[in-house]
Amino acid sequence: MRETKIYGHRGSMGAYPENTLISFQKAIEQGVDGIELDVHMTKDGEIVVIHDEQLDRTTDGNGFIKDLTLPEIKEYSAGAKFQHFESYDYETWGEERVPTLQEVLELLHDFPKVELNIELKTYIFPYFGIEEKVLSLVEQYGNNRKVVYSSFHLPSLLRIKNMDPTAKIAWLLMQGISHPVDYMETFAMESLHISKDMVLENVYDYKNLLQNLRVWTANSTDEIKQLLDLQVQAIITDYPEKALFFRNERKM
Ligand code: G3P
Ligand code: MG
Repeated sequence: MRETKIYGHRGSMGAYPENTLISFQKAIEQGVDGIELDVHMTKDGEIVVIHDEQLDRTTDGNGFIKDLTLPEIKEYSAGAKFQHFESYDYETWGEERVPTLQEVLELLHDFPKVELNIELKTYIFPYFGIEEKVLSLVEQYGNNRKVVYSSFHLPSLLRIKNMDPTAKIAWLLMQGISHPVDYMETFAMESLHISKDMVLENVYDYKNLLQNLRVWTANSTDEIKQLLDLQVQAIITDYPEKALFFRNERKM
């Protein structure tokens, strides 16, 4: 029986500050098969790992990533806003900073089996040149791990594929498209990353594609179990520890 992989969404963001080194570290300790993270480009051309276009929601700073240099971004805490979490650690979380992609790749270095899904957040600001920089960082620091590049912005993925025909690309979808297999074949996509509601509410439409789907963001026990039953390629979840428990108990 095919085993569904479990990817930690922004690390292990159900319990740790999203897209921080501690969140990725915890996801690895929990035993994830893969990690999902989001990247943007700073004013001085550095690739940073953060979900939003702005610092405001997840850090104690503010402003757009595109208007700030890396040293400016590093002044702010990426953990301090998460004091409502049960596991909040006053000693260390305040010191967490927005990581660079290089720092995350270095953290992952000793775990080459952990797959990495880099989501390029290029649908609001296209960050000209981001694709080349991301590919170069993965080549230098990726330690030959499996990397999947995803984006809601198809041109970004096509630029990646043009620069590296061996790159694994996955289009992010939150609404249905006609003929998904045609898209996959035409653009040589490794997979589709698809919202859980699209799959769970329209299972019939995807019945021939389940092995090519990574499904986000499935968090409830019920959703996770349904997706395990469907044997999708991977589940992307804020609660990887829980998903791993339900996945692994099926092996016993
Ligand atoms: O990559 C899956 C998921 O992360 C896409 O949505 O907004 O959480 O980045 P978002
Ligand atoms: Mg994402």
